Amino acid sequence: MRICVTGGAGFIGHHTIKELQQHGHELLIIDNLSTGKPENLLPEIPFINADILETCAARAIQEFKPEAILHLAAKVSVRGSVDGIADDARQNFLGTACVLEAACAAGVKRFVMASSMAVYADAPSPIPLNEIWPSAPRSPYGISKLAAEQLLHQTGQRTGMTTAALRLFNAFGPGQALSPYVGVVTIFINRLLSGEAPMIFGDGEQCRDFVHVADIARACRLALESSCSGQSINIGTARGTTVNQLAKMLIDNVAPSLKAVHVGTRPEENRNSVADIGLARDLLGYSPQHSLEEKLTELIEAHLTAPTSQSFL
Ligand SMILES: NC(=O)c1ccc[n+]([C@@H]2O[C@H](COP(=O)([O-])OP(=O)(O)OC[C@H]3O[C@@H](n4cnc5c(N)ncnc54)[C@H](O)[C@@H]3O)[C@@H](O)[C@H]2O)c1
Repeated sequence: MRICVTGGAGFIGHHTIKELQQHGHELLIIDNLSTGKPENLLPEIPFINADILETCAARAIQEFKPEAILHLAAKVSVRGSVDGIADDARQNFLGTACVLEAACAAGVKRFVMASSMAVYADAPSPIPLNEIWPSAPRSPYGISKLAAEQLLHQTGQRTGMTTAALRLFNAFGPGQALSPYVGVVTIFINRLLSGEAPMIFGDGEQCRDFVHVADIARACRLALESSCSGQSINIGTARGTTVNQLAKMLIDNVAPSLKAVHVGTRPEENRNSVADIGLARDLLGYSPQHSLEEKLTELIEAHLTAPTSQSFL
């Protein structure tokens, strides 16, 4: 397939580009490199440095004439969206609208977007949530992702373009940009390696579903190759890990003399976020192939053996 990937220079994007390339797809990346990195780009994959909100991105889509679009470009931060409500809505809702409009004009047949577990209402306990769990986002980011999903599916119904929104849970793995807002695994490893204690929001018993970026990349490919339509689909592992458990695993491995520090809770974050992945299994044939424990050791070792932590920043 000819596939245009927005956000292809980012963390999930560059792993997915490699996955799609290995499966013989013809690719174009559109990215404004706001958080994506030039070193994530492969010389053999065409790249347009453009903002999805601008007409040059739409023009690039029309010229490439893709059969499918994988829309990953976004401002990725639950906590950051609280401090930048308008920018979040612009990038994540209006940005999706612009890419959708360009897709319709270019006659794109399939559109897959990255959504988020942030669309869900909180759960009283760490039970795996399926896709019919109520949507009641606690953050502007969750609201813009949910609205973008709805716009996607409604556009698909109206035009005949097939659609899927992947509700990604907590991604981890190599190449995640270090930022104060996203990637608790990356943030904790970087703090521990510089001799600082991990900072935990609240009591640390909030539960997360950590899914390795290679599993997410495969899920994106499976969704592009599938013909299912109009569905929002969880992508996780169905296993919960509390932030306390994560901190303990990392402290034990990296800096046993340090102790985690607890700071105030973040009301915009759900307490319990674990995915039921039955729909992904049924519709896409997806199942996770990596566990947090197995990949954490590998990730820490990679950080330790890298000459600097730059390759992970
Ligand atoms: N990382 C996670 O844990 C996670 C969880 C749930 C959902 N997601 C979603 O997955 C997708 C990819 O996230 P990621 O973790 O790889 O983040 P990332 O920041 O590494 O990637 C986003 C990419 O989009 C590009 N981009 C941002 N705004 C753009 C714009 N206006 N025009 C063109 N390019 C733009 C950035 O330069 C970057 O390369 C996002 O849609 C995000 O909301 C991520």
